[in-house]
Amino acid sequence: MKKYALILAAGKGTRMRTELPKCAFPILKKPMIEYIVENIEKTTIDETVVIVGHKKEVLMDLLGDRVTYAVQEEQLGTGHAILSAASVLENKKGITFILPGDMPLMEYPLMDKILRAHAEMGNDLTIVSMKMDYPKGYGRIVRDEYGEVLGIVEENDCNETQKLIKEVNSSVYVVDNELLFKYAKKIERNIRKGEYYLTDIVALMHQERKVNTFIVRDPRVTMGINDLYGVGVAEKYLRDSINKGHMLSGVSIINPETVTIGHNVLIEEGVWIYPNATIMGSSVIKHHAIIGPNSEVVDSIIEPYAEIKHSIVANSKVGTHTTVGPFAHLRDGAMIGDYNRIGNFVEVKKSTTGTDTKAAHLSYIGDSTVGDRVNFGCGSITVNYDGVHKHQTIVGNDVFIGCNVNLIAPIKIEDNVFIAAGSTVTEDIPKGALAIARNKQINKEDYAKNLIQAKEKIKK
Ligand code: UD1
Ligand code: MG
Repeated sequence: MKKYALILAAGKGTRMRTELPKCAFPILKKPMIEYIVENIEKTTIDETVVIVGHKKEVLMDLLGDRVTYAVQEEQLGTGHAILSAASVLENKKGITFILPGDMPLMEYPLMDKILRAHAEMGNDLTIVSMKMDYPKGYGRIVRDEYGEVLGIVEENDCNETQKLIKEVNSSVYVVDNELLFKYAKKIERNIRKGEYYLTDIVALMHQERKVNTFIVRDPRVTMGINDLYGVGVAEKYLRDSINKGHMLSGVSIINPETVTIGHNVLIEEGVWIYPNATIMGSSVIKHHAIIGPNSEVVDSIIEPYAEIKHSIVANSKVGTHTTVGPFAHLRDGAMIGDYNRIGNFVEVKKSTTGTDTKAAHLSYIGDSTVGDRVNFGCGSITVNYDGVHKHQTIVGNDVFIGCNVNLIAPIKIEDNVFIAAGSTVTEDIPKGALAIARNKQINKEDYAKNLIQAKEKIKK
C-alpha cells in the first residue's frame, strides 16, 4: 500500500509577527519545515506533498525538488488546505500521513510507530493526540462516556467543560487517502472564524468509519509552534536533547543550558565544552579538544587537543594542540597547523599555517601560505588588499616577523628570514636575510629640552 505525507504549510503564521513564513522560520538555525521533511525521508513514506500558499517561493526555494507541491491560493483553514492537494492526491489508493508544518520536533521513529499503529488497529482515521497540563491554544479531543472519539473542538469554540479537557489534537493524522478527500469535501465553514477546519473531519467520520487516537507520551515532541515564544520553547527542548546525546557519548558540557550545538555536529569523546559556546553546521570536534567559553564554531574542524577560547572559528580548521584566542577570528578557510598559537585579537582568513607557528597578539593574516615555526610579532600584518584586488603572501619556514611589520602582498619571504620590527616590506626577501625596511632613526643631541620647555611655557 502506498504511503503519502501531506504537510500543511500554506498558513500566514500571523501570530509569529515575522517576515518569514512560519514554516520557514529557523529552529536552531534550521527552517522548521526541513526538520519534518528530513524525518519523513527516513520513514517508509513513498511521496511527500507540501501545501504551500503564503510566500510559497520561500518554502519552495528551501525544499527544491525533494517534495511535490500543492498550492492553496487563499488560506481558508486547514480543511481547505487539504482540498488544495486534491489535484495531486485524490483518488489514489493508500494512506496519507498529515502533518502540520509548524511541528518540527517529531522524529522518524515515532512517525513510523504511528504509521504502524494505524495499520495494526485497522483504522480509517488515526488522530495523534497528547495530554497537556496547560492545553491552551490546542483543539480538544472530545470523547463519549465509553471513551469513543466524537470530535475535536477548537479552543475558541469550546464550552467551559470542554476547555478543561487535557487531551489535545497534535494536528497529525493518518487517514485512508480516498476517504480523506471524500470527507474533507463535507467540511463546512466555521461560522465564528470563517475557516474550514480539518478537525471537523473527525465528527464527520466517527459514526461511519473506524476512528481512533494514538496518544503520544511526551507532548513536547508534538508541540505546534505558533509564535516566537514557541520558537524559544522548541529550541530549549532541542538544545537539551542534543546536548544530552553528546554528554551520554562522553562529552563534558559545563552549564549545558547555555550551550547550543547544531544537529549535524560531530563531537568525539573526551571533548570539553564551556558555557555559552555555540557549535553549528557540519563542524567536527575531535577527541580532547576544548571549546572554551563564549566561542562560536561553524562548519569547522577542530583537531584533537586543540583549545578555542572566547573566539570565532568559521569554515576553518584548527590543528592538533593548537590554541586559539582569547578573542581570535578564524574564517573563510583558515587552515591552522598543529601546535600553533593564534592569540588575542588575531584574525586569519583564507590562509594556511605550518606546524609550531605563532601569532600571539594583534595580527591579521589573510590570503597567505605560512610555513613552520614562523613567529608573527605583535601587530604584524599581511597587507593583502590594494583596494581592488586581494594578493597572496608566502612565508617560508623559520621566519621571525618583528612587531608592527607590514607585509605588502603579493610578496614572498623565503626560509630563515628575520624582519626587523616596524618594517613595511614591499620586496621579496631571500633565504637567510635580515630585512629592515623603515626610516633610520635620528637622535638630535640635547634637543628634547626645547620641546619640554616650550610645553611648560604654554602651561604657565
Ligand atoms: C491546529 C489545529 C488544532 C491543533 C493544533 C496543533 C485546526 C483547525 N486546528 O491549530 O486542533 O491542536 O493545530 O498544533 O486544524 N495551514 C495551511 N492553510 C491554512 C491554514 C493553516 O496550510 O489555510 C497550515 C499552517 O501553515 C500550519 C498548519 O496548517 O502549518 C496548522 O495551522 P495553525 O494555524 O498553526 O493551526 P493551529 O491554530 O495551531
Ligand atoms: Mg499551529
